[in-house]
Amino acid sequence: MAGVNFLAVGVTGAGAMGRGIAQIAAQAGSQVRVFDAVPGQAGQAVAAIRAQWDKLVDKGRLDPAQREAQAARLQAVDTLEGLAGCDLVVEAIVEDLAVKRQLLARLEAVVAPGAVLATNTSSLSVTALAAGLAHPQRFAGYHFFNPVPLMKVVEVIAGIRTDDSVCERLRGYARQMGHSAVQAQDTPGFIVNHAGRAYGTEALRIVSEGVADFATIDRILREQAGFRLGPFELMDLTGLDVSHPVMESIYRQYYEEPRYRPSVIAAQRVAAGVLGRKTGEGFYRYADGSAVTADEPPAPTVDALPPVWIPPRATRRPELLRLVHALGAQLESGSAPSAQALIVVAPLGFDVTTVAAVERLDATRTVGIDMMVDDAATKRRVLATNPATRPDFRDAAHALFARDGKAVSVIRDSGGFVTQRVLASIVNIAADMCQQRICTPADLETAVTLGLGYPQGPLAMGDLYGPTSVLEILFNLQTVYGDPRYRPSPWLRRRGALGLSLKHEEE
Ligand code: NAI
Repeated sequence: MAGVNFLAVGVTGAGAMGRGIAQIAAQAGSQVRVFDAVPGQAGQAVAAIRAQWDKLVDKGRLDPAQREAQAARLQAVDTLEGLAGCDLVVEAIVEDLAVKRQLLARLEAVVAPGAVLATNTSSLSVTALAAGLAHPQRFAGYHFFNPVPLMKVVEVIAGIRTDDSVCERLRGYARQMGHSAVQAQDTPGFIVNHAGRAYGTEALRIVSEGVADFATIDRILREQAGFRLGPFELMDLTGLDVSHPVMESIYRQYYEEPRYRPSVIAAQRVAAGVLGRKTGEGFYRYADGSAVTADEPPAPTVDALPPVWIPPRATRRPELLRLVHALGAQLESGSAPSAQALIVVAPLGFDVTTVAAVERLDATRTVGIDMMVDDAATKRRVLATNPATRPDFRDAAHALFARDGKAVSVIRDSGGFVTQRVLASIVNIAADMCQQRICTPADLETAVTLGLGYPQGPLAMGDLYGPTSVLEILFNLQTVYGDPRYRPSPWLRRRGALGLSLKHEEE
């Protein structure tokens, strides 16, 4: 086809990824040849792709003539030498450095000097894979996601010796295949697997502190923060045998950077074989393919609501006052609460305990609410008690905030509740990726929204809640936990301090 960047494309490894890459390359107009070490495997892959196209023809979504043209462009080859005329070969074989290096060395001897070689590795260093090559400048990472035809993003990764022009051609070809290309430095996890570190690890950390159970954290992150899947649902879907080793590998490759620290909870579950959907039990139990979840207990009923006092430094205080008023509680306006009042604090990053202690409030009557996300934009409110909160005041707060029918979760005390902690961690890791120049802010946003399906890119999330607020959450989390995992990235610290967008790049 005229104009396609690579006329003849070879794919080695006809597994899940190789099949998908071969499919979209043939759809883009390239002649595609597929090779696999296991005899018959490449032929099966070609037949499976053709069957896929047949289904699209049956559904009226693919023109029969186009199907014929695509099918004619796709063939299996029995030997590596069959890839001789290719001007691009993408390697998607087993994830093993030595095996991949061996294959690449053989490929170099087969293809023409001007041909481009690429690897679909998700966890190995492109630079390390290139080390044994005679011409490392023509080799790059080309990291697709599963399933390739549906996940419309690919990371182009430059090793230390990769030519810029090679990356440029690969990016152009990605667009011809209908994918968005993002450019990444050769660093552990590249963009998507690096930016995705905070969601699961921070949620596991919250569970390990006994703040809330798995299902509650999933509900909060779906219904308050707007994620499609909760972190535990996601880990069950992926399987902990896949996601835990990724957490460990990135942590180790970054020389034990605390932001990526994995969890003992996940390690134990892997040891027990409680991996997720694929084993019928993960964080949830599965019956007939769907998760078995217990219903949430209804909100308590309370005969008479106490008056409510809200301290001057509460987050979004005017909105909180309006909300409490709209829910029908009597608001106290004095400079201190009366002896009967329910005290509602709304901290950013701090826990309820710290606010009660520092502001000298009666902790037995103090409950916290997470006001970081605009209440009108959420389907769930989150309250937190402190260890001294009296059950009658906890129930009064629960009943009050559930009065209009909105779902309410009551969790134990935690710096930053759940949403603040997880969002601040996601934003901080993303900001640090920009600081390290792993990719541009724009590519980071594209990669994360398409590769992870987050409601917004992490920098847009930070901008939405305010870089200064995110910075405040992290500073306060550091105070509460004394843990360097909450150390703000310089990128966030400077932009937060100056009130600049997190997407702001210096000239
Ligand atoms: P897979 O196990 O489904 O397929 C690998 C194929 O390579 C098999 O058919 C195997 O016979 C063949 N193979 C093994 N050694 C070979 C050799 N020396 N020469 C030729 N063929 C050989 O694996 P999958 O999932 O397709 O992964 C392939 C690559 O893509 C790996 O590097 C993996 O890390 C990466 N990747 C996988 C993703 C996924 O979600 N499965 C996502 C992104 C990247």
